[in-house]
Amino acid sequence: MLSDAELTAYRRDGFLVVKGFADPAACDRLVQRSYELIDAFDPTTVSVFTTDEQTRTTDDYFLGSGDTIRCFFEAEAFDRDGRLAVPKRQAINKIGHALHDLDPVFAPFSRDPRLRGISSQLGLDAKLLQSMVILKPPGIGGEVSAHQDATFLYTDPVTVAGFWFALEDATVENGCMWGLPGGHRLGLKRRFRRSGDGVVFDELDPSPLPLPPEGYVPLEAPKGTLVMLDGLLPHWSAANRSTRSRVAYSLHVIDGAAQYPDDNWLRRSPEMPLRGF
Ligand code: FE2
Repeated sequence: MLSDAELTAYRRDGFLVVKGFADPAACDRLVQRSYELIDAFDPTTVSVFTTDEQTRTTDDYFLGSGDTIRCFFEAEAFDRDGRLAVPKRQAINKIGHALHDLDPVFAPFSRDPRLRGISSQLGLDAKLLQSMVILKPPGIGGEVSAHQDATFLYTDPVTVAGFWFALEDATVENGCMWGLPGGHRLGLKRRFRRSGDGVVFDELDPSPLPLPPEGYVPLEAPKGTLVMLDGLLPHWSAANRSTRSRVAYSLHVIDGAAQYPDDNWLRRSPEMPLRGF
């Protein structure tokens, strides 16, 4: 459970860095499990290349991943001919999006009773909605531009909160997250939703998010750190041009009483309803 001072800081800043939350051995196990999932992934079973004629297939692969476990490549993992230019373990951008329900290693980590307690402190009747391993591989780990998680995981009212775990040290050098202190009070700028067979962004507020890095602070996180993120907090991370990977696990929860729109990108089959901790 968070102290009063931690809770106050989270509400003031829109984020909170809790060092030493996860056992380093547990972090190692999750990294190892991530590479097992990547090793088992056969890239030839799916078109994930970024050429124009395959964009539709790529969308379907993403849009169908809400209740599965799928691997997504880094944009820079391929050469001009569309062939993998790096070993597979260093080619994956993320694994998602239902590890918390489907994977025997990630599921128990995700249902840590301490996270249930923290969610209650935040006033949430928490349902676990989305999980991702974000690998940020050395050399080619891509930038994630400034965004608010509620853009992608929308509820009415906005209730999404993020639990982000550093499974390896995250530093400025290897692409740690940056957050805009107090930026969660700016309101939601955009909403990402399904439209027909594709996706669109709805602009909810014409004033853009502040452009990084001005005003943003680096959320450096030694292995085992939990970074809590308000769903409205603007955050981003730089490309990883270093020689060290930056593997992280991210888990998002929403309040079970809030309305979850049908046109959110993330859908679950009726056989897999959202569950709490
Ligand atoms: Fe995010």
